[in-house]
Amino acid sequence: MSERGIRGGAKPQLPLPEGDALEHSQRLTALIRREIELAGGELPFDRYMELALYAPGLGYYTAGSRKFGKGGDFVTAPEISPLFAQCLARQCAPLLKALGGADILEFGAGSGALVADLLIALEPLDALPERYLILELSPDLRMRQRETLTRRAPGLLSRVEWLDNLPSDGFRGVVLANEVLDAMPVQRFRVAVGEVSEEVVRWEDERFVTRWAAPASPELSDAVAPLMESLSLDDYESEINLRAVSWLQALGEIVSAGAVLLIDYGYPRAEYYHPQRDRGTLMCYYRHHTHPDPLLLPGLQDITAHVDFTAMAEAAQQAGFSVVGYATQTYFLMGCGLDQLLAASDPNDLPSHMALVQGAKRLTLPSEMGERFKVLGLTRNLDTPLVGFAMRNMCERL
Ligand SMILES: C[S@@+](CC[C@H](N)C(=O)[O-])C[C@H]1O[C@@H](n2cnc3c(N)ncnc32)[C@H](O)[C@@H]1O
Repeated sequence: MSERGIRGGAKPQLPLPEGDALEHSQRLTALIRREIELAGGELPFDRYMELALYAPGLGYYTAGSRKFGKGGDFVTAPEISPLFAQCLARQCAPLLKALGGADILEFGAGSGALVADLLIALEPLDALPERYLILELSPDLRMRQRETLTRRAPGLLSRVEWLDNLPSDGFRGVVLANEVLDAMPVQRFRVAVGEVSEEVVRWEDERFVTRWAAPASPELSDAVAPLMESLSLDDYESEINLRAVSWLQALGEIVSAGAVLLIDYGYPRAEYYHPQRDRGTLMCYYRHHTHPDPLLLPGLQDITAHVDFTAMAEAAQQAGFSVVGYATQTYFLMGCGLDQLLAASDPNDLPSHMALVQGAKRLTLPSEMGERFKVLGLTRNLDTPLVGFAMRNMCERL
């Protein structure tokens, strides 16, 4: 994946949106413009990103566009192959059994592919959770998840509950978040001659533009100062996900016993804020085209940033979790027994065997998702080792 910065590149050549989509983007643009006006002329980048992705009824995730899969903008691991969920089932089963009467809580369940395949795989392992809770910000995606379950696992639908907020404290079970952290709004910062500035979005000459401004709150400077010092950042632009830190704190308040698996693309801090990545990691996805301009086509494209896994591990520890594992997706899936699942597939049933082999390749090859995606494992009041990290655990790199 290219990691060019936002500015300085040629305008990306993207497919033109159709009439309805364009109108939708114009409605969201008008809403963001109104909020910019009300705020006195500019909005911090993270608020722009929040509106672009989650403005009620209009944001990329909250409106009805296709998003996932071939006809959408990008493909995620649960969409690629049921092997992903089957591996996770082999990780969740011993944990759910050790906890006894425990639940699964999935954040941002996308099309519902993971919940369906995971429940289907847990049933024969005699390890179904009491309840499978889904916290999903998008009403449209909730509907799609219910449809997927009704079609693929109707007998297991009664175990699934959609939540509006985090469950109250005392949660026991396994928390899953696949590609959720990368979809949280990030603040963009610039460090130059010892000064931190924050990117803000304005409306000028009939389009959104950005500029660097003094940080709106001391929170950003406080968080960037130690990075600046320890990594000697200068003339450097990047992102920081302070919302993910608060999210982990909130999770720490409700999980009484269990495990958390955070799966996403990202790096440990020193690699994240590497000198070569001096324009950050922000990327946009529109109909399988990848480009770095978040101001284009608001509401029609996904906007994401890579995850600083060191920051996540530190926030998790502060929230009362033990950081027990960090591995590439390849090693995690292998630790969960991906090769055994493949070996059990019947090579005489050529079409499904080939589909599984192809899926396994996409999930694990370094040129595909295998190395770019990592898994961070956290536990609290749980002694059962996590099998996904048995083959290789790179916690020391965090
Ligand atoms: C890239 S999609 C991934 C969907 C799915 N997990 C998958 O792998 O196909 C990101 C998802 O995260 C959700 N999301 C982002 N922030 C969230 C939060 N704070 N709580 C719950 N869901 C969130 C979005 O609504 C969206 O469904």
